[in-house]
Amino acid sequence: MTDGFDIGARAKARCDALGLAPYSEIEGQLTRRFLTPAHAAALEALAGWMAEAGMSVRRDTAANLIGRYEGEAPAAKALIIGSHIDSVRNGGRYDGPLGIMLGIDVVEALNLAGRRLPFAIEVVAFGDEEGSRFPASMSCSRAIAGVLDVSALEMRDADGVSVAEALAAFGGDPSGIASAARRPEDVLAFLEAHIEQGPVLEAESLALGVVTAIAAQKRLMVRIEGQAGHAGTTPMGLRKDPGPAAAEAMLALERICRAGADGLVGTVGRLTALPGAFNVIPGAVEFSMDIRAETSATRDAAVEAITTEIHAIAAARGLSATVTLMQALAESPCDPSLMALLDASLADLGLPVRRLPSGAGHDAMVMAALCPTTMLFIRCEGGISHNPAEAVTEADCALAARAMLTFIDKLERRERA
Ligand code: GLV
Ligand code: MN
Ligand code: MN
Repeated sequence: MTDGFDIGARAKARCDALGLAPYSEIEGQLTRRFLTPAHAAALEALAGWMAEAGMSVRRDTAANLIGRYEGEAPAAKALIIGSHIDSVRNGGRYDGPLGIMLGIDVVEALNLAGRRLPFAIEVVAFGDEEGSRFPASMSCSRAIAGVLDVSALEMRDADGVSVAEALAAFGGDPSGIASAARRPEDVLAFLEAHIEQGPVLEAESLALGVVTAIAAQKRLMVRIEGQAGHAGTTPMGLRKDPGPAAAEAMLALERICRAGADGLVGTVGRLTALPGAFNVIPGAVEFSMDIRAETSATRDAAVEAITTEIHAIAAARGLSATVTLMQALAESPCDPSLMALLDASLADLGLPVRRLPSGAGHDAMVMAALCPTTMLFIRCEGGISHNPAEAVTEADCALAARAMLTFIDKLERRERA
């Protein structure tokens, strides 16, 4: 309890409150994609909570929502605490939002205690971590970190709407997006609290963990072209069907990744046969590939191997294939001195210190281009995520909030020294 609210537990309750329409695009589930009315509704709720917590609130040109709690001096450097408010399709309630809600709780606790620090705290709600609407992801954190390639604004969603068009309709400013970039001299560090999305902490009966590094990832789109035809009249031997070729390619990806080291994983999460009918041999099949590993070298070797195999599989069947890179993110080590402060914060709370890498991507990996970053992982039930069954306990959320406050105390001591 922190003078009137249950710190951490309230953060969880707020994630739950944003788990349904109008904060979801679809009734009865949570789908909140970038720059949709559900995203706007969530930002409105967050803005109210940020203001109540004692922050001044603004939106930047890239659709980030930013609450600022001033430090002792008006233009002090900021510790940015943040995560993402967008979700995957039919996702869980805590992947992203929990890190924002915990940031708001932590600031409110400081405000209620009348504490000002030698640095400001900003809580940021990024909007595009999942990339569930457009082919690439993290345009919001890229804009803040000053590493957004403006060509990303031309990407289109499944309805043909570009990022630039959607951003303008949302009240953002695509032509002024460069002004969302923060200056490194204005930012002290970035702290992201996030559910683990894996089973390690639960298996070891630990509430919290300290992230060492985030895995490298690549997103690719594959298109295998054949010839559309009649499903009833074209004999099997005379077809140019890209469907079985896509199936072979998926099996090849599985084989390559199973044989790999360094946490190599590969996923086909989207697959479309075109034009898409019971009675039409597809003219083309398109599918996504998400390939990750602890090092870019291992990831890139796998990408090269699967690309070669896809071309060979297509050629053997008289088909053609294209493999297009949509996004590449290098592995992102967390800052050693901030990790040590988080370790010490867990120890102060009487918790064992457990360090672990992140296989999931996070805005922290983009923010590393701007400032030192650190991440706190929170146990989630069964390690389940990207699934409506995602669950955390109030007790773990409360511990996470206390660990973040302790981290802030330690950062304050370091900055005053
Ligand atoms: C986001 O959750 C990702 O890891 O892609
Ligand atoms: Mn996610
Ligand atoms: Mn996430």
